[in-house]
Amino acid sequence: MNPLTRRGRCGRPVPVNSDQVRIRPYVRSDLDALYRVCLRTADNGQDATSLFRDPKLPGHVYLAPYVTFEPSLAFVAQDASGAAGYIVATLDSHAFWQRLERDWWPALRAAYPEPPEEVFETLPYPEQYALHAIHQPPHTADELASRFPSHMHIDLLPPLQGRGLGRRLIETLVAGLRAHGSPGLHLVVANGNQKAIGFYRHVGFTEFPIDLFPGGGPRVFVMDLRA
Ligand SMILES: CC(C)(COP(=O)(O)OP(=O)(O)OC[C@H]1O[C@@H](n2cnc3c(N)ncnc32)[C@H](O)[C@@H]1OP(=O)(O)O)[C@@H](O)C(=O)NCCC(=O)NCCS
Repeated sequence: MNPLTRRGRCGRPVPVNSDQVRIRPYVRSDLDALYRVCLRTADNGQDATSLFRDPKLPGHVYLAPYVTFEPSLAFVAQDASGAAGYIVATLDSHAFWQRLERDWWPALRAAYPEPPEEVFETLPYPEQYALHAIHQPPHTADELASRFPSHMHIDLLPPLQGRGLGRRLIETLVAGLRAHGSPGLHLVVANGNQKAIGFYRHVGFTEFPIDLFPGGGPRVFVMDLRA
């Protein structure tokens, strides 16, 4: 069975739009709420509010460029309180990093200058990673990009977790990526986020053997979309 197809007894799909929660395409007015979701999940899936001097910094890196440049691949989970989760992605990681180098990172580099090393080392790791991404942006290795060119980020606030919405957001994104002809999807997850790693394996991702940083660090998971 396709691990993304959630089935109940007798093979019937399990309803996931219950309890006033629904998944829908991103709209511009979601942005502020999604910045808050990003902040509140930016410490290996936990609340990072106390770990950033500027609460908007994680959203500038992990959220806003995706919804700005590829809004058709952004989907929102909404409950009665409003937008409380999202999945965002890019179709072609190489093209995306080139676009950000031209149209996104320069403004952030001016707004968030690289601190001196002695200051940088005192910052919590989540802020260090975000600043590093702005000043030494990530690039996708060719061996990964050739087979799994798309990449994604997913975050849900705690009240929406464990209710099937993560699976449903990934199903929604995968359908969108397939419609755009993507052959494969990858994601990067911190080794410390074991909960997310278990989730990704369970919904059909497999680990891709690559060392992003020598000696360990983040891990990469992939999904073949040609099947
Ligand atoms: C990780 C996250 C996206 C998962 O979404 P979720 O809505 O909580 O997960 P779901 O309820 O959709 O779970 C889907 C399936 O995965 C399973 N699952 C979830 N977590 C699991 C784990 N750690 N290990 C094994 N299986 C797991 C569920 O049991 C469920 O199984 P089923 O559909 O066969 O019944 C969500 O918890 C989250 O946003 N966490 C905080 C932010 C974060 O860590 N983001 C990822 C950063 S890389």
